[in-house]
Order: sequence, then C-alpha cells, then structure tokens
Amino acid sequence: MRAITITEFGDPAVLQLTEQPDPSPGSGEVLIDVASTSVNRADLMQRQGRYPPPPGASEILGLECAGTVAELGDGVTGFAVGDEVCALLAGGGYAERVAAPAGQVMPLPPEVDLVTAGGVPEVACTVWSTVVRHAGLAAGELLLVHGGSGGIGTHAIQVGRALGAQVATTASAQRLARCAELGAEVLIDYHDQDFAEQLAGRADVILDNMGAKYLARNLAALAPDGRLVV
Ligand SMILES: NC(=O)c1ccc[n+]([C@@H]2O[C@H](COP(=O)([O-])OP(=O)(O)OC[C@H]3O[C@@H](n4cnc5c(N)ncnc54)[C@H](OP(=O)(O)O)[C@@H]3O)[C@@H](O)[C@H]2O)c1
Repeated sequence: MRAITITEFGDPAVLQLTEQPDPSPGSGEVLIDVASTSVNRADLMQRQGRYPPPPGASEILGLECAGTVAELGDGVTGFAVGDEVCALLAGGGYAERVAAPAGQVMPLPPEVDLVTAGGVPEVACTVWSTVVRHAGLAAGELLLVHGGSGGIGTHAIQVGRALGAQVATTASAQRLARCAELGAEVLIDYHDQDFAEQLAGRADVILDNMGAKYLARNLAALAPDGRLVV
C-alpha cells in the first residue's frame, strides 16, 4: 500500500509518499480501506519530533480516518465488510489501509460522508469525553471554550450549543466572527481582552488548551461548582 511516512523530523518537506507493507487485522481489530484522514495539531508536532507515538503504535502518521471495512479480525462483531466507518487511531491513518481496534471504530450515520467523517473522531471524542462525560455540561450553563477557532474549539462550540449551553470563547480577533457563526455568543479576543474579568465567577464549564499559564485566571472565571477540564 501507499503511505505518507517520515524518516527524519522537520518541516512538511520530510513527508514522503512510500510503499509500505499492507497491515492485517489482529484479533479484535478492523481493517479499513482509508478514504480520508485529517491534520491535527498533534500530527504537526509528531512530524517535528515533539509528540512520539505511544509504544507499539504505527510509525506512520495519522490519528484518525474514515473509510470502508475491508476485513474483520478474530472476535469482531457488529461490523461487516463494506460498512462505512470512521476511527480514532494511535497512528497509521496516512495510508491506504489501517487496522484499528474495533472499540475505536464507529459506524457512519447515513447523513455524514466519508470525507467529512475523516476529521471527526479526534475532536468529537476529545470534546465529548472532556466537556460532557467529565465536566457534565448541562443545558442553560455557560461554557467557556479557549481557542474557539481551532479544531477542538470549533467542535466544542457546536457541541455546547447543541446541548443548550451558552458559549463564550477566546480566539484571535480575525477568527471570532466564525466562532459566532458556529454558535458562540460571548466573543473574547485573547490578545487584548481578559476573559477572567469578563466572565468573573460565571463560567460553569471551561475547556482549556493552555494549562498552567491560564490556571489562575480560569479559577477566577469559574462559577461556584464550576468544572475546569484541560
Ligand atoms: N485536535 C485534536 O483532536 C486534539 C485531541 C486531543 C487533544 N488536543 C489538544 O487540544 C489543544 C488544541 O488542539 P487543536 O488541534 O484544536 O489545535 P489548533 O487547531 O491548532 O487550535 C489551537 C487554538 O489555540 C488558540 N490559541 C492560541 N493561543 C491561545 C491563547 N493564549 N488563549 C486562547 N486560545 C489560544 C488559537 O487561536 P487563534 O488561531 O485564533 O489565535 C487556535 O485556535 C492542544 O493542546 C492539543 O494537544 C487536540
């Protein structure tokens, strides 16, 4: 199969189209004929050598994909050859075929096409696990999404609105209009405005992409019983 591989870390010029052995599905895995994949911030960092794959994972880049089930490993139920699916991957998505654990493979709803689906699993699983499962965002609450213009942020704004929350977001000024189109109502240019002052004690849930640098201001922005996920 053809795959995009790297033999050294660096800028996009290190990406090469090469021939690689076809993967075969191990026990509990689904082999997918890849139709689409995506570019996440983590892929850029991996290409630069700043985000090594987990032990045992494919050296081929690519953290998610969509495609068609080509073969089922032993013990896999719930999928059939020919099903359209998308998958969260530990690596290997930048290739014509990839084997993924069945638990990381999801069927495609009929209204989602194979190209769109290749960019969904990473952001959807991250946002749902943090904002919904851990932080328990509820209708009527105020969700603050840092980096609303990014991959995670654009998805989080839409999930927040779909769940009936009010959404505030931080982003660069030129991208705030798009955040508003996606559903954010409180728009904060993080270069010039202080979200902690604007939201003082009102944010029920904060989805943070900055970590230590924002901790004190995030705590100031949180409401009583507020939840901060990093
Ligand atoms: N993408 C994924 O699937 C995924 C999965 C798990 C974890 N993560 C983590 O989630 C974080 C975001 O990833 P991403 O893929 O969404 O990255 P991204 O698409 O590159 O977006 C990063 C965003 O951060 C914003 N930003 C930069 N400095 C900021 C600041 N001081 N305050 C607020 N926002 C700021 C940028 O806004 P402007 O461009 O408007 O300036 C940009 O929209 C990263 O830490 C990543 O490791 C991502």
